[in-house]
Amino acid sequence: MEIGIDKMGFYTPHMYVDMNKLAVARNDEPEKYTIGIGQEKMAVPPITQDAVTLAANAAMEILDEADKEKIDLVIFATESGVDHSKAAAIYAHHLLRLNPRARAIEVKEACYGATAGIQLAKGHISLHPDRKVLVLGSDISRYGLHTPGEVTQGAGAVAILMSANPRVMVLGKESAYHTEDIMDFWRPLYSKTALVQGKYSVEKYNSFFKTVWEDYKKKTGLTLKDFAAICFHLPYTKQGLKALRLVIDEGTAADKERLLAHFEVSKQYNKIVGNIYTGALYLSLLSLLELNTDIEDGARIGLYSYGSGAVGEFFSGILQPNYREYLHVRHHRKMLSERNEVSVQEYEDLFNQELPADGSDIDLPVENDPAPVLLSGIKDHMRMYINKDQS
Ligand code: HMG
Repeated sequence: MEIGIDKMGFYTPHMYVDMNKLAVARNDEPEKYTIGIGQEKMAVPPITQDAVTLAANAAMEILDEADKEKIDLVIFATESGVDHSKAAAIYAHHLLRLNPRARAIEVKEACYGATAGIQLAKGHISLHPDRKVLVLGSDISRYGLHTPGEVTQGAGAVAILMSANPRVMVLGKESAYHTEDIMDFWRPLYSKTALVQGKYSVEKYNSFFKTVWEDYKKKTGLTLKDFAAICFHLPYTKQGLKALRLVIDEGTAADKERLLAHFEVSKQYNKIVGNIYTGALYLSLLSLLELNTDIEDGARIGLYSYGSGAVGEFFSGILQPNYREYLHVRHHRKMLSERNEVSVQEYEDLFNQELPADGSDIDLPVENDPAPVLLSGIKDHMRMYINKDQS
């Protein structure tokens, strides 16, 4: 039986800050941000968006009533969780009005979480081929103002519907993965922003890639010539290019040309959204699938997932006949092109807005946020969500 990605949704908030302007405000050269880091715009979330709402907004666009009935497992990957106990998946399950005869859980391993979700979904579907699994990867990436990581923030979510006989991509059975206990990036329970050893994290991202790539080649016998493209977890777009360059000389001139050209396509969405942690690899895949003009059905796409702490995995998938018909390119282009630019001052003000931490109630300004699903406030320690499309 073949299992994989049947549909892919994506959501990012309606505001962004321009990286040239952020660079000027930070006394950096704009080219450091746009070329050295490879980011042009960074999504800025309003206080009415959190991991739950971003994910629900991403999933709403792809699910029809038949999907909702067949989904019996919701796996919510995030490192921006909203509760220590209750899974974000349960809020999303409710907001999306999914079938109650379902399991709903949250998984965590930094940016690797959604890949863990996808691999678990494959196991579930192989036992229950008639069921579908909704995998959500949703995050708000926060390092803090005036930090080296600031330029690599972002916000957004991907929603991936996994099924048997998928219409977009069949995922291969073989996969190479690696775990090592390292402190490259983490967020202690008391901190709202991530701690990071930036250069060390880059080094580990790259060394994990080499490890799992070598292992994958041994396991499968595949080499660069077998891949139309390789998508990477993109904390910022230059990072993927650095990793690709580590192996590109294994290929012929034609392999190099093809893989570098397709890498350019695969970074287009990420460079105007920023790091969305768990969803970043799949945003890059979406960018590749929605924007390429020459990748044929049957082509193999490699996927490198990395979550700090750290777990890395390399796997691949085969594009299915007429895969473009099942994507939502028009919707995503519209969402991205209709966003509003905010000034650096407005971005800083939004960054500094916080929900009360002392247990008091709050009503949030939902009228300022065009998203359908919103956090409307906190009452009696409970988060209040609304879905404007269903009220
Ligand atoms: P930094 O020290 O500010 O930057 O931090 P830099 O001095 O290393 O410069 C960055 C690049 O810009 C360099 O290029 C410079 O040469 C270049 P490189 O050597 O890397 O190719 N540059 C210029 N280029 C053109 N024109 C100029 C110019 N000036 C400089 N004028 C760093 C950069 C990435 C370390 C920082 O932003 C950071 O700490 N980011 C957060 C950590 C991160 O994203 N790590 C990536 C790997 S870990 C990962 O992916 C997991 C993660 O997503 C978390 C999770 O799993 O949940 C982060």
